Amino acid sequence: MSGPKERIDELVHSLNEHNYRYNVLAQPTISDREYDQLLRELQDLEESHPEHLRADSPSQRVGSNLSKSFPTVVHRTPMLSLENTYSGDEVREFVERMERELPNRDLTYACELKIDGVALSIHYEQGLLVRAVTRGDGTQGEDITPNVRTIRTIPIRLREPLPSCEIRGEVYLGHEVFSAINRQREEEGEPLFANPRNSAAGTLKLQDPRSVAQRQLSFFAYAMIGAETPSHYSNLDLLETLGFAVNPHRVLATRPEDIIAFWESCDGLRPDLPYDIDGIVVKLDDLSLQSELGSTAKTPRWAIAFKFSAEQAETVLKRIGLQVGRTGAVTPVAHLLPVQVAGTTVSRASLHNADELARKDVREGDTVIIEKGGDIIPKIVRVVEEKRPQDLRPFDFPDQCPACESALVRDEAEVAIRCVNAACPAQLKGNTRHFASRTAMDIEGLGTALVGLLIDENRVCDVADLYDLPIEKVAELERMGERSAQNLRDGLEASKTRPFHRVLFALGIRHIGATVARNLADAFGSIDALKAVSEEDLLAVDEIGPTIATSLRAYLDNDDNWRVIEKLRMAGLQLEAESGETGDLTIRPFDGKVVVVTGTLERWSRQEAQDLVRQLGGRPTSSLSAKTDLLIAGEKAGSKKTKAEELGIEIIDEKTLIGIVEAAG
Ligand code: IVH
Repeated sequence: MSGPKERIDELVHSLNEHNYRYNVLAQPTISDREYDQLLRELQDLEESHPEHLRADSPSQRVGSNLSKSFPTVVHRTPMLSLENTYSGDEVREFVERMERELPNRDLTYACELKIDGVALSIHYEQGLLVRAVTRGDGTQGEDITPNVRTIRTIPIRLREPLPSCEIRGEVYLGHEVFSAINRQREEEGEPLFANPRNSAAGTLKLQDPRSVAQRQLSFFAYAMIGAETPSHYSNLDLLETLGFAVNPHRVLATRPEDIIAFWESCDGLRPDLPYDIDGIVVKLDDLSLQSELGSTAKTPRWAIAFKFSAEQAETVLKRIGLQVGRTGAVTPVAHLLPVQVAGTTVSRASLHNADELARKDVREGDTVIIEKGGDIIPKIVRVVEEKRPQDLRPFDFPDQCPACESALVRDEAEVAIRCVNAACPAQLKGNTRHFASRTAMDIEGLGTALVGLLIDENRVCDVADLYDLPIEKVAELERMGERSAQNLRDGLEASKTRPFHRVLFALGIRHIGATVARNLADAFGSIDALKAVSEEDLLAVDEIGPTIATSLRAYLDNDDNWRVIEKLRMAGLQLEAESGETGDLTIRPFDGKVVVVTGTLERWSRQEAQDLVRQLGGRPTSSLSAKTDLLIAGEKAGSKKTKAEELGIEIIDEKTLIGIVEAAG
C-alpha cells in the first residue's frame, strides 16, 4: 500500500508534468479544476507530513520571503550584451567579418527573436532550481530566487537530471497581462508602467513573491552555459527537452540575404505576437567556433542583434493640451489626427515639458513625425518644417493653470511648471485618487470616474469631505445607484482602520512615499508629534534628507492642510501609530530605543537589520549621536564604534543580536 510519502512523490511528479503541459506546451490534458484538486490534496498532505515536503513541490512556487533586499551574486560567466545593428548592410559586414576571421569554414548562423524583456540566469543543481540571478551590471546581479520560482514557464525540476547547469533567457510579460496590470493601476491611481519590459523588471524586484505570482511573468530560455552540444541550435533543442519554453520562431541561415529575410518576416510578425520583440539575434551556430572567437569586455564577437527601427508615422498636431498632475506639475500633451502606428491607433503623444516643446518648436497645426518605441505613449520626433502653413504661431505656454486659473510657477530645479494652488480641482482629483489607491487608504468603490464626478459636482473639496458624503446624494449621481453608493460607504468605513503610516502616505505630501511614511510613523508615532518636531529632528531619522524634511514641514505648517488633517481626525482616521503596529514579535527588547547599525553583518543586510530593529521595537537611525541608545556593530565597524565608545553608548555584536532575536521568538 502506498503511504503519504509515496502519494506526495506521485502528486509532485504529476503536478509538475501538468504544469509543464499547460504552461510550456500549452497542451493541458486535465482541467484547471482537476489541477487545483490535485494541488490541494498535495498541500493537505504536506501540511500533515511536513517531513516529506519536497523542494520541487509545486506548492513551493510561492514561498514566504522574509528578506527585504536581494543578496548580490557574482556571475561565474559574465552576462554580456550584444552589439546592435539596424541595417542589412551592417549584417552583411558582420557576416564578412566572420568569414575573414574564420576563413575556409562553412559558417551557419542561428537566428532567433530578440525578446524585449529582462535577462535572467538560473542555476540548477542535481536538476533542482537553486538560484536565479538578474543580469545586474553584467558582472554581478541580485539573487531573486523566490520571485523566479513563481514563473510557471520555468521548471523547478528539470525533466532530465543534470548534475549542475546554468540557463540563461529572457523574462517577459505578455501584452494581455501587461494591459490588465496597467488598467488596475489606472483604477487605483498608481503611475502606469511605460512598457511590458519595465513592468517585468519592476515585478521581478517586488518584495512579496505572492504579488509576483499574480503578475504572471513568462520566460524564454535561449542558452545553457557550457553546454556539451555541438551547436547553439542543438542547445536550444536540449533546453526544450529539459522543460523550458524556447521561442519557436528560429531559423538556421548561411547567407546574409536569408538573415535579412528572416528579420523582415519577424518585423511583419510583430503586430501578431502576444509579447514585445525589438529585433532578431544572429549567432554563429557552431559552439567551438564561438569560443574560438571569444568576446570583448562587453559583447561576444560571434553574435549580433539586428534591431527593428521604432515605427514612425506622419500626422497633424491638432491642439496642444495641458494636463495638471497630482503635484500641480503642468505638462503639455499633443492631440493628434488619429494615425496607425505599430498596430495601434494613436491620437495623443507626450511633449514632456515646456522646454522640450520650445526646443522642438512644435506648433498647433504642424505636421509631425511621431514614433512608437517600446513605450505605450508615443513621442513626437520632429516637425515636418516643409509642411508648416505660414500663419502658425509658436506655442505660448500659459501663465495660468488651465484648471483653476491661478498663476503658474516655474520650478527651476525640475524644469516643471506648477500650479501651486492647493485647492486646484485638477490636483484635488489626482490627490484624491492617490488617497483612495490600494497602497494608501485602499478605498473600495472609489474609482477614477467617481472621484472626477464628486469633484466636478463640488461634493468633495478636500479628501476629508469623502467621509462626510451623504450616501443618498451619492446614489443620485450619474451612473451610480444604491449598490455603488453602499459599496463606497463600506469602503470608506473600512479605510478608517488603516494604520497611521498609510494615512500619512495617503496625504500625498511631496517626496513622502510609502517607505518614508513608515519610517516617520515609526520614529514619531503620531501626526501631532510630527507637527511639533523640528526639521533637525526629522533629519535624524533614517532615509530622511533635507528635501523630505522641508517638504513635510511646509505641508504641516500650512493651515489649510492642517484643517484637512483635523477633519480626518474627526472622521475617525488613525493619526497615531498603535503600539506594536510595527512588528509581530511578542517581546520587544529594543522598545523605544534609538539604534544605529554599523559595519557588516553576516546574517542580515543593512536594510534587513534596520527592519529587524523596528520589529524589535527600536527606532533605527543612521547617524550616531548622544541620543543613540544602542550600537549594533558588525565586522569592520570603524569610526562609529570608536565614537560610541567615547559617548558611552551600549554596543553589541552580531552574536549578541542573534541571541536577542532568538529570545524574542
Ligand atoms: S543572447 C552574450 N538571445 O538582449 C549573448 N539575448 O542586448 C547575450 N535578449 O541582455 C544574450 N532575446 O537580455 C540573446 N534570443 C536572445 C535574446 C537576448 C533577448 C536580450 C538579453 C541580453 C540583451 C542583449
